[in-house]
Amino acid sequence: MGLGSKSQLLSKIATNDKHGENSPYFDGWKAYDKDPFHPTKNPQGIIQMGLAENQLCFDLVEEWIRNNPKASICTPEGVNQFRDVAIFQDYHGLPEFRNAVARFMSKIRGGRVTFDPDRILMSGGATGANELIMFCLADPGDAFLVPTPYYPAFNRDLSWRTGIQIIPFHTDSSNNFKITREALEAAYNKAQQENINVKGLIITNPSNPLGCTVDTETLKSLVSFINEKSIHLVCDEIYSATVFSSPSFVSVSEVIQEMECNRDLIHIVYSLSKDMGFPGFRVGIVYSYNDGVVSCGRKMSSFGLVSSQTQHLLAAMLSDEKFMGKYLAESSRRLGKRFNIFTEGVEKVGITCLPSNAGLFCWMNLRSLLKEKTFEGEMQLWRVIINDVKLNVSPGSSFHCVEPGWFRVCFANMDEETVEIALKRIREFVGKETEKPVKVKRWQRNLRLSFSSRRFDETVMSPHGIMSPHSPIPHSPLVKAT
Ligand SMILES: Cc1ncc(COP(=O)(O)O)c(C=O)c1O
Repeated sequence: MGLGSKSQLLSKIATNDKHGENSPYFDGWKAYDKDPFHPTKNPQGIIQMGLAENQLCFDLVEEWIRNNPKASICTPEGVNQFRDVAIFQDYHGLPEFRNAVARFMSKIRGGRVTFDPDRILMSGGATGANELIMFCLADPGDAFLVPTPYYPAFNRDLSWRTGIQIIPFHTDSSNNFKITREALEAAYNKAQQENINVKGLIITNPSNPLGCTVDTETLKSLVSFINEKSIHLVCDEIYSATVFSSPSFVSVSEVIQEMECNRDLIHIVYSLSKDMGFPGFRVGIVYSYNDGVVSCGRKMSSFGLVSSQTQHLLAAMLSDEKFMGKYLAESSRRLGKRFNIFTEGVEKVGITCLPSNAGLFCWMNLRSLLKEKTFEGEMQLWRVIINDVKLNVSPGSSFHCVEPGWFRVCFANMDEETVEIALKRIREFVGKETEKPVKVKRWQRNLRLSFSSRRFDETVMSPHGIMSPHSPIPHSPLVKAT
């Protein structure tokens, strides 16, 4: 039986490619999986800079766990709560967990806003939360507007199983990738003309991949826009506590306190994957101001409940005000320090990053190094960076950026020694061990010399996945889409 007839045995979802795995974003993961860097076992391997993970404060968390053995049900101190926690399966979630999350979300917003624990819905990470909110707000064929550049896995999370469409609208470097009302309006009007039912707008604030917070004026204009059109606004605020320098984070929840707005249209997606560095715990949250969404979403939570063991532990940790205060301050300080080490390190060889104040990554500008200022040129440079420089960074095209030459580089998923090795590799690639300003022409010559089409074919796959292996790999990149 041929593959074609075999695939007809499966559903349309199983056989379509809207999961978005056919992207260099995921191909970089596969290349890394084949040759991962290790300081002693594989010092020439690829350094993973495509993973938006926050590993900078585990020492603090581990200390808290040691000091609070009662919070874990698998310790002599906590085992007497084992039975109650093990049998708990209510899709409302443990009340103490929802209370703790509501207070934590308020704390991150400087106490300027409070959250009602009864509006907190659980889900399997922000991945599940984004899909859950789409299921509640839109039908197959309906559309959501998304500013570019955007998180590559949105294609999977928002549309693969729900059948909704993503309508990208563009931002560019001329105003530091700020969302403009004009671009939004144009995308909305075009969709209307094409008879597409636009149900909403989704943004990430702080932005992945830009690492910037959205300013209050922009947020207000977005809230006005969605009110005028009577469509929804979903704010994915998963990076809200990663802000490390001014301006500080402003949440949509604060903005709607100050303006006339139909709150039924406002929804926040959150998770502990970035702010606390716990992507493995799969703690995702939808906070909706809409009673209908709360009621339906609560029932949908059954598909992605957070384990009660995790809820139990986190209820205790997040409620420890003193610890959380210390954690948030220290995490922000360490992220800022790491950001400075990286950006100053690349500046020494003439590379700049978008000025940013949040996130676990930099948006690095390599436009001047492109052999040709096209997306093919960007892919060529990217392949050289993976194959020769041995860094897995993510090309801007995988974030649907409209300008070739931007790359997202994650800096918080490794220790300082590894960052230094990555910086050294970049400097060597530039051909300068010293700190002299880089001559771009020399870079370009190097790129031409080191790029080989054999590597392109054999090592890293094509931009559109023509050569992407679809056979299972040891660690599925879909599982690790960060
Ligand atoms: C903007 C954004 N939303 C959602 C997610 C998914 O997060 P989670 O691990 O909580 O599913 C990510 C992960 O990188 C992200 O960057």
